Amino acid sequence: MKALILAGGSGTRLYPVTVVINKHFLPIYNKPMIYYPLSLVMLLGIREVLFVVNPEDLEGFRKLFGSGENLGMSISYTVQHSPRGLADGLRLAEEFAGSDSLCMMLGDNIFFGHELVNIMKEARRDIEQNGGAYVFGYYVNDPKRFGIVEFDEEGRVVSLEEKPEEPKSNYAVTGMYFYDNHAIEIAKSIEPSWRGELEITSVNEEYLRQGSLKVKLLGRGFAWFDTGTHRSFLEASSFIETIENKTGLMIGCIEEIAYRNGWIDRASLLKAAERLDKTDYGTYLKKVAEGEIF
Ligand code: DAU
Repeated sequence: MKALILAGGSGTRLYPVTVVINKHFLPIYNKPMIYYPLSLVMLLGIREVLFVVNPEDLEGFRKLFGSGENLGMSISYTVQHSPRGLADGLRLAEEFAGSDSLCMMLGDNIFFGHELVNIMKEARRDIEQNGGAYVFGYYVNDPKRFGIVEFDEEGRVVSLEEKPEEPKSNYAVTGMYFYDNHAIEIAKSIEPSWRGELEITSVNEEYLRQGSLKVKLLGRGFAWFDTGTHRSFLEASSFIETIENKTGLMIGCIEEIAYRNGWIDRASLLKAAERLDKTDYGTYLKKVAEGEIF
């Protein structure tokens, strides 16, 4: 399995904050937002990542992650010239994916919770063995903002709808998707929605029609933020700040994960710490390298 992280889009909903700066570079507490989805992909053990980016932000992403060498990964970029929708990301990933399955993450989604990585590993295993699509549902109180999934009394998925005027449930589909290779053909076959976007919900609907869509609910033990509003930015930041300061452990620290995965050695970790010298982040990396944090 390879990973696709969508970090394009117009960001207009966060104007004026995002007129000059791409939202994925903005801080969620102490690190750029984009570190969080990347860190999950890394925790899943995926080393090959493709970012979908806007033309004007390509250099910024290159500056942050380069070719992934500093993380022991292979990171590449594909430019999306206009925000044609999430399913367009799948179309752009065709060459990168080859015949592989994909984990697709939205660059503005942040997840946290006990056993989260094991749940993701289970989704990965399922897709690799059985094919199909695997997504996650989360109970929200503002369902009009999301892709919404409806269940029948037996808990089977009945319908999916993107940003419904009259939501049939409060279960949002989160921005973490696992697909077999078929997703690319499906993405190529769908038409833009009434709002002019190639919706990921249309791709998921096709899997539902074929009887190969799995939806797993993430319960109250999980935190999920779609940082699409100013308030959710703030909420996500204070959430991360609270957990990190309580535990002394960082969430979404990509160099630490690369080191613990055995993708970079201690010398490389110390080099990263030096580059960030005199910051809490750099001090933290040094502690990890010195074995002071387990
Ligand atoms: O966060 C979960 C929701 O994400 C789902 O419930 C919805 O079904 C799904 O459509 C999506 O809705 P949003 O309205 O939140 O998507 P947004 O336009 O904010 O884009 C999500 C991410 O994808 C964001 O990091 C930017 C990136 N993106 C977006 C578009 C439209 C791209 O890379 N390219 C694009 O063309």
